[in-house]
Amino acid sequence: MADTILDDYARFAAQLARDAGAVLRDRFGQPHEVRFKGTIDMVTEADQAAEALIAGRLRDAYADHCLLCEEGSQGTALSSRYRWVVDPLDGTTNFAHGLPTFAVSIALEEAGHPIIGVVYDPMRDELFVSHRGGGATLNGEPIHVSLTDRLIASIVVTGFSYDFERRALQADIWRDFLTRVQAIRQTGSAALNLCYIACGRLDGYWERGISPWDVAAGALMVSEGGGTVTDMRGGPFHSDDREILASNGTIHADLLDVIVTHEAPSPGNAQLGA
Ligand code: IPD
Ligand code: CA
Ligand code: CA
Repeated sequence: MADTILDDYARFAAQLARDAGAVLRDRFGQPHEVRFKGTIDMVTEADQAAEALIAGRLRDAYADHCLLCEEGSQGTALSSRYRWVVDPLDGTTNFAHGLPTFAVSIALEEAGHPIIGVVYDPMRDELFVSHRGGGATLNGEPIHVSLTDRLIASIVVTGFSYDFERRALQADIWRDFLTRVQAIRQTGSAALNLCYIACGRLDGYWERGISPWDVAAGALMVSEGGGTVTDMRGGPFHSDDREILASNGTIHADLLDVIVTHEAPSPGNAQLGA
């Protein structure tokens, strides 16, 4: 695809993420209307307002593209080579508790492969943009993954599922890494985890049980920032696969060595597993 078309998509998505981010920023710290999708999986009126803005503009501009939005907004096209993948508020739990670490995440996939990834953190005014073959930027400046080449010198990150059974398994991997790395973090936003790898603030991230909207944009950011993205067995990454291992590339094999010693979900039970 011509670079100018990719640039147009990226510019459009970036403006959309900024505008949706402004909606979140305006509502941050206010009392929220909270609904629960499960025992602890929240959705607020802000998730819905940001998604309505994004989905409405995507439908107007790209009526022939498919839309996959976390809160269920639909596109008009039933099938298309192009799919927009949207998380209007990644880090809802942080947001609802007044913790200013969350982002808007928007990706465009062509035939199942990401071509545009945009993540916007409205509280820090940080806009991450990537397009296939065009590198990744933070507020317009090119970014690159870290040069960290040893696990013990690395700072890694993971996330914990909303499913308690899965959390116990995830804790086993966490415990295993504790004595092998310099530090482990949990930001509460998969999209920011990936952007922070892309710009060298973090070195590795793994999580099972994630959804396409959590990682579609950020995964492209990591590859375009020079890093590596696979599933948790080292196989090719696809945003629908519900698991991700991303790193600066240099420590990828070492991360994998630890992760593969933990039980993977059995076929047909991809919902569970550490
Ligand atoms: C969640 C965050 C979190 C990750 C969860 C996601 P949400 O997204 O990205 O970091 O650990 O798996 O579901 O619910 O805040 O949009
Ligand atoms: Ca999310
Ligand atoms: Ca969300």
